[in-house]
Amino acid sequence: MAKALVLYHSQEYGNTKLMADAIAEGLKESGCEVTAFNTNEGRFDITTFPEFDCVAFGSPDYFSYIAGGLKTFMDDHYIQSTVKKKEGYTGKPYALFYSHGGGGKVKSVMKELFKRVGTQVGEPAESYGKPNQQTLEKCTELGRQLGRTVMPKR
Ligand SMILES: Cc1cc2nc3c(=O)[nH]c(=O)nc-3n(C[C@H](O)[C@H](O)[C@H](O)COP(=O)(O)O)c2cc1C
Repeated sequence: MAKALVLYHSQEYGNTKLMADAIAEGLKESGCEVTAFNTNEGRFDITTFPEFDCVAFGSPDYFSYIAGGLKTFMDDHYIQSTVKKKEGYTGKPYALFYSHGGGGKVKSVMKELFKRVGTQVGEPAESYGKPNQQTLEKCTELGRQLGRTVMPKR
């Protein structure tokens, strides 16, 4: 079974977590085994990253940038993949999602930074504040789309 990681930061209201849960649902519907990790609860163990076949990255917009926990992930990822030249850190399909308070400039930061991990699937899912039903459905569909890239056709 393909393994999917949903790596996100959510702290202020839980807006990004709601999106993460919806994406995880779509990934499960595609047949993936899903691990979800909120970087507000600790530092993601970067050495486990090669286990995952695909990833969804989610962040709130913090000062037009990604949240610190996800920046730490990217720093750790760079050290493993580029400095230590470890295998299994790149070439993965990934999807992006973000929530914001009316700005949303984090979108372009995410599109640029996460390129290091592999190939982006679909378009980033966005929420202004708390995600409504339509946004959550878009997130679930993005999860399904990401999952389909790593699951054999049934
Ligand atoms: C420290 C901080 C900085 C923020 N900076 C921005 C910003 O630059 N642009 C923006 O649109 N929203 C900004 N916001 C609003 C959050 O992106 C928004 O409330 C988000 O949905 C919070 O996600 P969460 O509930 O999952 O933590 C900021 C919030 C915090 C706490």
